[in-house]
Amino acid sequence: MARVPDFTVSNAAAGSDTVGHQEPGDTRLAANTDRIRLDFRPGAPDISLFPSKAWVSGVRDAARCGIELKGYEDRRGHPLLRSELARRLGRVLGVAVRPEQILVTGGFADGLALAASALNHLGLRAAAVEDPCLATHRQVLTRAGLLVHKVPVDGDGLDVTALAATSARVALVTPTHQFPMGMALSDSRRRRLLEWARRVDGYVIEDDYDGEYRFDPRPPGPLYALDPSRVIYGGTTSKTLSPDLRLGWLVLPPRLASAIIDGVPHQRAPTLNQMAFSEMLREGHYSRHLRRTKQEYQRRREHLLAAGISLEGISAGLHGVLLIPDEGEVIESGRQRGLVLMGTRSFWHGPPRHHGLVIGYGRPTREVAWRAMNELIDHIRPRLTPAGPGAIPSGRHT
Ligand SMILES: Cc1ncc(COP(=O)(O)O)c(C=O)c1O
Repeated sequence: MARVPDFTVSNAAAGSDTVGHQEPGDTRLAANTDRIRLDFRPGAPDISLFPSKAWVSGVRDAARCGIELKGYEDRRGHPLLRSELARRLGRVLGVAVRPEQILVTGGFADGLALAASALNHLGLRAAAVEDPCLATHRQVLTRAGLLVHKVPVDGDGLDVTALAATSARVALVTPTHQFPMGMALSDSRRRRLLEWARRVDGYVIEDDYDGEYRFDPRPPGPLYALDPSRVIYGGTTSKTLSPDLRLGWLVLPPRLASAIIDGVPHQRAPTLNQMAFSEMLREGHYSRHLRRTKQEYQRRREHLLAAGISLEGISAGLHGVLLIPDEGEVIESGRQRGLVLMGTRSFWHGPPRHHGLVIGYGRPTREVAWRAMNELIDHIRPRLTPAGPGAIPSGRHT
């Protein structure tokens, strides 16, 4: 029997969503030229929604007024962008943010690396991450020289009692939309997490990676507003525009700002990109883009829910977790029909406590999205058991 082609062999191929797209010389895909790959891995937005016109116009304007291209001038990022971000984040976070507190980064991971090495330098030697979480972020903390503890999450988010039993003084969390499981940190856990930070004289690093996409009318807000002196808030354009821009930001507690910025060798994101984004913010293009894309992603999520694919956690973001007992079989048989799927397994630090699929419904391009989702539904539905594995239980300690 012919070997079934491996759909995840290359990012370019897997991300193409095109009929029979093949990397030159990639013989492993040769048998697959008449197949369509429908990519549901989490992590990236629909690139066909990228606001090319506004972006190109922003870059063109920035390049034209070269007077703003001042090279090594300000390590914190371009002043125009920091002012625009301060205005926007003040509204989003519900507390005043000053441009001096903002560090423009090369995406969240870059900001995390800068913050982690500054905190280590200040004597905070151990950090905690959620279990499960993105493995890259755990590695970033380890490479910054921190000892990394893994702390479980349950239906209420991070288990703060377990956190307090570690030596950590830094906690990296996704409180508004746990990645990848999808729950929000409960109110009482938020309070206890901030109490913990004050007690150990430590900091919480808030990864608000997809905060622009909240579909409930009253979504849980960012943690930052509850104690701006203890929370380092991180945002990114990786979900709203493209991970390829490498553009994000940190909002720093005032007393940490100089310690972190002193360790930054140069601007972290190309000035032309910063200025193009700044113009999008100023002219309202970004808000319009968010409204449009939010509607699109919400429709996709609701389509899956309406078809009986019940996703964990709050109604938000570009991905959802479907708990199933045997993700391996669903992934493998999905691959045979052209679906690129990812399980929760790689996000756990040890043996998984829940099995499931992390469905990145944001990734398929508009041309194929609805067909892709129907294909996915057809694939998954027969494999669902009537009772299902049940939702992730809430915690013992709230
Ligand atoms: C949990 C989480 N945080 C942050 C990000 C964004 O990271 P970056 O801004 O470095 O692209 C991602 C992207 O996949 C993510 O999954």
